[in-house]
Amino acid sequence: MCGIIAYVGSKPAAPLLVEGLKRLEYRGYDSAGMAIVTDQGTRILKAVGRVSVLEDQANSAGDVVGRLGIAHTRWATHGGPTQVNAHPHTGTTADGHTVSVVHNGIIENHSTLRKYLAEKGHKFVSETDTEVLSALIAQLYHGDLEAAVQSALREIKGAYAIAVTCDREPHTLVCARKGSPLIIGIADQAYIVASDASAIVSHTTQVITLDDYQVAKLCAGPNDSNTAAGGPWSVDFKTTTIDNVPVPLEIQELELDLEQIELGSYPHYMLKEIMEQPEAIRDCLRGRIDMREARVVLGGLSARTRELVRAKRFVLTAQGTAYHAGLIGEYLIEDLARVPARCEYASEFRYRNPIIEDGTIITAISQSGETADTLAALREAKERGALALGAVNAVGSSIARETDAGVYLRVGPEIGVASTKAFVGQVAVLTLLALYIGRRKHLPELAVREYLAELDRLPAHIQRVLEQSDHINQCVQQYIDRNNWLFLGRGYNYPVALEGALKLKEISYIHAEGMPAAEMKHGPIALIDDGMPVVFIATKGSQYEKVLSNIAEARARGGRIIAVATEGDDTIHSHADSVFFVPAVPEPLQPLLTSIPLQLVAYHAAVLRGHDVDKPRNLAKSVTVE
Ligand code: AGP
Ligand code: GLU
Repeated sequence: MCGIIAYVGSKPAAPLLVEGLKRLEYRGYDSAGMAIVTDQGTRILKAVGRVSVLEDQANSAGDVVGRLGIAHTRWATHGGPTQVNAHPHTGTTADGHTVSVVHNGIIENHSTLRKYLAEKGHKFVSETDTEVLSALIAQLYHGDLEAAVQSALREIKGAYAIAVTCDREPHTLVCARKGSPLIIGIADQAYIVASDASAIVSHTTQVITLDDYQVAKLCAGPNDSNTAAGGPWSVDFKTTTIDNVPVPLEIQELELDLEQIELGSYPHYMLKEIMEQPEAIRDCLRGRIDMREARVVLGGLSARTRELVRAKRFVLTAQGTAYHAGLIGEYLIEDLARVPARCEYASEFRYRNPIIEDGTIITAISQSGETADTLAALREAKERGALALGAVNAVGSSIARETDAGVYLRVGPEIGVASTKAFVGQVAVLTLLALYIGRRKHLPELAVREYLAELDRLPAHIQRVLEQSDHINQCVQQYIDRNNWLFLGRGYNYPVALEGALKLKEISYIHAEGMPAAEMKHGPIALIDDGMPVVFIATKGSQYEKVLSNIAEARARGGRIIAVATEGDDTIHSHADSVFFVPAVPEPLQPLLTSIPLQLVAYHAAVLRGHDVDKPRNLAKSVTVE
């Protein structure tokens, strides 16, 4: 969902902005653009499609030279993905200078402001909401860009992360945020502003993170005549609220290194992230399993243990893949901690006038920590008195910062739009949470010890599943021409069926539907025709025989059966056309393994269909707009 990169400093801005946009491509976009403040004024370049098209424009333009610039990859919300709607958008000040703005989010009162500004003489050229903001800042500009931005933002309703320039102030970059992510890097004689750390880490690990309604004024420029000869530049920043109240922000150290976000020898980030799951889950579990005491150690929750043990109800909330992890969390918390739990789509929960009684704990699950609906649902539940927990991957993200306590996934940055290692990390953290509470209530120590021992073996188990990747690829080839798949599972594996269907849909564009295996007979079985791929999670467990019956029902109607089964199950081959095995683990831990063959099914299907695995059409890595 959109990427912002901005620079003010001693180096030429354009190449740094293009490099930053490339680092942000994974977030999803449809067009790109940049504004460079040059000695002759502001140069604007825009392109529909890939960042490389914009890069070619910048290279061939030749005169796009300046040390202050902003750039953007757009995921259209208001106005189609056209060149004129691409950012930056501009406004002209009363004294003829150009204000340029890049924006992530939605200006909700854009219609009212558009009418007001048109009456003031602004000639709108785009269909976007963002152009309202650039025009308003220009309208309010009286020689002080920071003040004009603050004034304009006081009139804005909606969500924004913005970077703003005015070519009357060639050494000043102003940025601000509310509801969309923005991070500021403090580099050598420069400041770099970006939507996330992946575009900053190659320049600096010293960052400051703005909170909602905060503005930063970043200045970098020559401090005297000899600077032009290459002497040191002076840099200075200050942070305020949109009401110009100073807010001191501490400089933090980024917990990210470049190697983590490099593709390495893999063809796609998604495959890299699937294959690094043994290591990622080892990192996720490290220090959190105490075999001596048969306890889970979650430092981020220790101050809240009493509230957790006394909780009367858990509401888990998320979107997409994280929602599927939350559904598994619902089963885990009820089964292992014996506390009523339910998982809700954040986008529904926030608007349904939810009932939050005493003892309710809201748990927001998110890889990016920036999903707008999940953040809003968290705030809604907190306002109604719930204790707020987070299971988040991105350190310092909005959701992480707004929870009362939380557990970071610690699976490393996830670049591929289709979430894989983060999903398994979310399920692992929710498993730890359920054991953390269950152990303090009635779960026998021996049972906890057995679960923890299995979790400790999880990375090796995952590695065994990953070794079937070539086999899975060959199986998928048999079904690659089919345009409709079913995914079916029971109990803990029902949400895994949902997740398997989503994975396939979002990167191969093949239609797929997941559901409880028993539900098939209540309608969807009508879909099964000769040769339709029907994926069953048919691992050994309490409902294994029932799943075999469902398989028979599907097969009797011509379905081609793909089964995820337990190692050592020597009867499954008589029930299924293709089989992928996972090591035997207790049912509550099965999703940590059964989801992985389905990740590989989706990955290989997308590659076989020739799609852009890491940047699937229409999708964004982080949905920061509602
Ligand atoms: C996952 O494959 C999807 N890309 C998407 O459903 C994602 O899980 C969802 O948008 C939630 O994102 P979050 O975990 O960053 O909140
Ligand atoms: N709402 C703005 C637009 O449609 C910004 C979208 C984005 O966040 O990329 O241009």
